Amino acid sequence: MLSLINKTAVITGGGSGIGKAIALLFAKQGATIHIIELNADAATAVIAEIKSAGGNGQVHAANVTDQQAILQVFKTIGTVDILVNNAGIAHVGNLENTSEADLDRVFSVNVKGAYNCLFAAVPLMKAAGKGVILNMASIAAHVGITDRFAYSMSKGAIYAMTLSVARDYLASNIRCNSISPARVHTPFVDGFIAKNYPDNQAEIFEKLSKSQPVGRMGKPDEVAHLALYLCSDEAGFITGIDYPIDGGFITLNN
Ligand SMILES: NC(=O)c1ccc[n+]([C@@H]2O[C@H](COP(=O)([O-])OP(=O)(O)OC[C@H]3O[C@@H](n4cnc5c(N)ncnc54)[C@H](O)[C@@H]3O)[C@@H](O)[C@H]2O)c1
Repeated sequence: MLSLINKTAVITGGGSGIGKAIALLFAKQGATIHIIELNADAATAVIAEIKSAGGNGQVHAANVTDQQAILQVFKTIGTVDILVNNAGIAHVGNLENTSEADLDRVFSVNVKGAYNCLFAAVPLMKAAGKGVILNMASIAAHVGITDRFAYSMSKGAIYAMTLSVARDYLASNIRCNSISPARVHTPFVDGFIAKNYPDNQAEIFEKLSKSQPVGRMGKPDEVAHLALYLCSDEAGFITGIDYPIDGGFITLNN
């Protein structure tokens, strides 16, 4: 069940949080893992953990915003059965306190980064006659969240990108879906609480936990298990759809 034996999986941002959990779980299920990361040390530690458990993988230190670097990485990898576009950054702010530089930074990583990896991976998948893509969106793509102007737009773009790619590559036997997590407890969440609310971190952590009707944040491993299903052959009938994993955030917050 849900075996990834003989599959090659590329995971962006696999050195931390959700991407790390996906890398570890996919490796456990038999995939060879390629992590594309800005933080090479973190990715190296994840690959070391995979290898010590008997798995196989490689680190590619690269910035997903750099198209030439990303094309080179995918050329080196050669065959890609699964691409998980997970690398992303946050920004807290409404329209008025989001500068042009903030907007460019968030779009460069969250939107152009995913496009760059698709641009490099899809021709390889087409040549192989198959492929699976999973993009990391967010509940912010679907509901209005306070002070997430740039971030929400970037995740809305990820959702639309998922539909577009799923539609265009139906005939190439490439499936493309996205996942929309609510808050998942990762360094990403700890980092933005520390940066944006330095004086009341515990209070904000509690507030963010309770914003999920189930009363807690998600765990990276819970997102990884949904990712595993969507990237497995068992999910062969699923394409062009987004899956919230949100503790009831979208439908039960009333
Ligand atoms: N944690 C949450 O609550 C949450 C909720 C919804 C969606 N998401 C999305 O899930 C994804 C992963 O989030 P996380 O919480 O695991 O984050 P994280 O910060 O723990 O990990 C992200 C990883 O991406 C890497 N990265 C960042 N920019 C990069 C770049 N330009 N090139 C290559 N690597 C880069 C970082 O070095 C880091 O290791 C993001 O796209 C995020 O928007 C997270």
